[in-house]
Amino acid sequence: MALILKSLILLLLVAFVCAKTVKQSKNDKETLEKYIEDKKKEINPRWRLHYHVAGPVGWINDPNGFSYYKGEYHLFYQFYPYAAKWGPMHWGHVTSKDLVNWKQLPTALLPDEEQCFSGSAVVDGDTHVLIYTAHENLASGLSNESQYLAFSDDGVNYDKFKGNPVIPQAPNGSPDFRDPKAWKHGDHWYVIIGSKTTDERGRVLLYRSEDLIEWEFLTILGESKGDLGYMWECPDFFELDGKFVLLMSPQGMKPEGDRYKNLHQTGYIIGSFNYDTLEFTPDVGFQEMDYGHDFYAAQTMEHNGKRYVVGWFAMWESPFLEDVDGWAGAMTIIRELSIVNNRIIMKPLDDMVSLRESLVASGDFRTNVPVVFGKTAEIVIDGDLNKNMDFLLEGTEGGEKGWIKWDSESRKVGIEIDGDVRQVEWYPIGSTTLRIFLDASSVELFCGEGEVVFSSRLYPEGGWKVTNKNVQDVKIEAYSLKRSVPE
Ligand SMILES: *[C@@H]1O[C@H](CO)[C@@H](O)[C@H](O)[C@H]1NC(C)=O
Repeated sequence: MALILKSLILLLLVAFVCAKTVKQSKNDKETLEKYIEDKKKEINPRWRLHYHVAGPVGWINDPNGFSYYKGEYHLFYQFYPYAAKWGPMHWGHVTSKDLVNWKQLPTALLPDEEQCFSGSAVVDGDTHVLIYTAHENLASGLSNESQYLAFSDDGVNYDKFKGNPVIPQAPNGSPDFRDPKAWKHGDHWYVIIGSKTTDERGRVLLYRSEDLIEWEFLTILGESKGDLGYMWECPDFFELDGKFVLLMSPQGMKPEGDRYKNLHQTGYIIGSFNYDTLEFTPDVGFQEMDYGHDFYAAQTMEHNGKRYVVGWFAMWESPFLEDVDGWAGAMTIIRELSIVNNRIIMKPLDDMVSLRESLVASGDFRTNVPVVFGKTAEIVIDGDLNKNMDFLLEGTEGGEKGWIKWDSESRKVGIEIDGDVRQVEWYPIGSTTLRIFLDASSVELFCGEGEVVFSSRLYPEGGWKVTNKNVQDVKIEAYSLKRSVPE
């Protein structure tokens, strides 16, 4: 009798889950994974990254669904497997126990009539819930964006909700209505969605729900007055060190001197927020999050009281030199966030030291005596900030060259690649160390405590050769780093 009862309950449970979702075709998924396995063999490894997440093949862009579920961190990404260029969007998927070592999982979402554009993930009881933008190209030539859900109870297989869309359209009917970022506060779910006004100003919309399915539009959380671009993509909203942060990626901001030199920007507004009045009051204006050439669509998640961020390690319309090798796009290393002096501080994870493989250099870094590495390096430099510093980053067999520069007079630190400079004033809040992470085609520079960070793609041939080109000898400690992502 007990057994019959148990079977009955199980049957009901299965029936309930099935009734709620549309199974993604197992056939399509298996065909895709087989294709990926085969295609991977054709990839040229020269610029494949050793400790940055990238797609197994093909194209990737925005990070999605950054979350913690059933004992693992989950990170998804916009994925087009069939070419190293943008195409109909899937969600690729990796997991990690420590945010440093990553494991490849099968593609989580495949497009049907809709493309699976960016979104986020939350955990509802035992279920991992993805909320993403369904992008449809209409016969009229226009497109339509609405918000969809997908569910998983194992963190591997995801099925789309039968009742999609859960949010059919923007209050003003704008076709640009995407990148939902959801979170829970008290008894309610909240989601913010990037959009624009009818006169082309970026804005972020706030919604609330009791069940993730029925959503109520609450308010416009933030909006450009005309100076912050025509569209806000990939919004995020979170509490950090007693403040609230509205993070987003505005498109269409004009360059101002050293600022906003990338095609599109990623930055944030720090302020206060009240869940009763739903008012977000900025304390300071928009600030760029990362000053490098390649950082976009950043997304955060919180676990164990820590707030982490990952960005797309690329920029729209920049050359992706790796595309001829069968892949394009990557993620930055994960960074831990805090706020000091109304500015976001980004620090590499403490666990990054676990990747140190062998000590390559230690002590004096003399002028014009290069240090040579393999494909990876972590370099810690201590110099006198009252004097200039200039470090040349190049390949042992040629390729692209980059410079890291500190100008003591203007107090600007910067990265220059092919004459294209990104720089910003740096007033250290503590440490005056430069910490540089080099991977097979990338450089990340963390200044001091992480108050100034640059992320740029850079393509050397062979291994890395780093030279101190200034008159000032500095102190160096440098390591080669282990692989922590699938090949
Ligand atoms: C866009 O899609 C939503 C959800 O399916 C639908 O309600 C809406 O009518 C569509 N708009 C257009 C212009 O097709």
